[in-house]
Amino acid sequence: MADSILQHQLEKLAADRYPLHMPGHKRHLAPAPGLSCYAWDMTEIDGADDLHEADGILADAMARTAALYGARRCWYLVGGSTVGLLAGIRALAPFGSEVIAARNCHKAVYHAIELGRLTAHYLPPPVDTAFGVYGSVPPAAVEAALTAHPQAKCVILTSPTYEGVLSDIASIAAICHAHNVPLLVDEAHGAHYLPFAARYGWQGGAVAAGADLVVQSAHKTLPSLTQTAFLQLNGGLADPDEVERQLDVFETSSPSYPLLVSLDGCTDWLAADGPAAFARWGSNLPARGRVNAYPQQGTRCLRGNACTHPAGTSNSPLQSGSSFSRSSNGSGPATA
Ligand SMILES: Cc1ncc(COP(=O)(O)O)c(C=O)c1O
Repeated sequence: MADSILQHQLEKLAADRYPLHMPGHKRHLAPAPGLSCYAWDMTEIDGADDLHEADGILADAMARTAALYGARRCWYLVGGSTVGLLAGIRALAPFGSEVIAARNCHKAVYHAIELGRLTAHYLPPPVDTAFGVYGSVPPAAVEAALTAHPQAKCVILTSPTYEGVLSDIASIAAICHAHNVPLLVDEAHGAHYLPFAARYGWQGGAVAAGADLVVQSAHKTLPSLTQTAFLQLNGGLADPDEVERQLDVFETSSPSYPLLVSLDGCTDWLAADGPAAFARWGSNLPARGRVNAYPQQGTRCLRGNACTHPAGTSNSPLQSGSSFSRSSNGSGPATA
């Protein structure tokens, strides 16, 4: 049988370039040894568990991931962070209620607002005009919004952003909890922020910082297949039963086992090889400084304290691990 046109085109694309883009496995770090799409593509037969009512091998796998991140619960997602945001927001904010959301959220947050007929009170983060990107959400702005809108059912923000800008999640979570309001963090670009990563210069992550629901696209920065993501739950403000009900609403009832296996394999890889990989990457970080030294390459790095950007005055490089650069003449696309 001849290659399909689509397959042919993908083979050409794969041969032509080194992927600096997603997915995080870069097409060479297999998330699970021997992962075979056809052989393992099955349905909820006996022994295979059921993602929507997990009490067997999938429940065990998700528990392993939760333990690695220090979360109370973890759900494997096969519809990306998108489905985690849709379900998570709906679980926290009943139909027709009010939420507080950073203005630079991903479109999935806006879709959740539309579907839930939510009233959103927006937090506009400061703008770094030099780079044309949004900065960190100031904790004081969250405090002011919660005081002004006491009916809000949750606070939603993105950290890190696509460009690698972080917000001070620990302070923001403490403020939310003082108001008895849960915090949902879109950490789609920060699935690599595990508690152990903090030992090598990365952030320890929104789960460790106390956020109540955290959505992470494993496929973006970790060796897991495209569409895979984690939804992590912490503390007592988010109801796990309601999260599960909303995942039932928004996520396919036929989740792909190869995708699920890639999430479990990615967890195994993180547990076994993660610290060594982070140590290796950490030792390469000074290379970000060299990017600035080659303006003729058309790139420069965002600097300063990543949690108070652009207000911070520190000269330390971004701690996020995903350096932000763009064409120095401002004409090229941003890359993270
Ligand atoms: C900040 C942010 N949140 C959420 C998403 C959605 O993630 P996914 O593609 O895993 O559904 C994206 C996708 O690029 C994103 O940039």
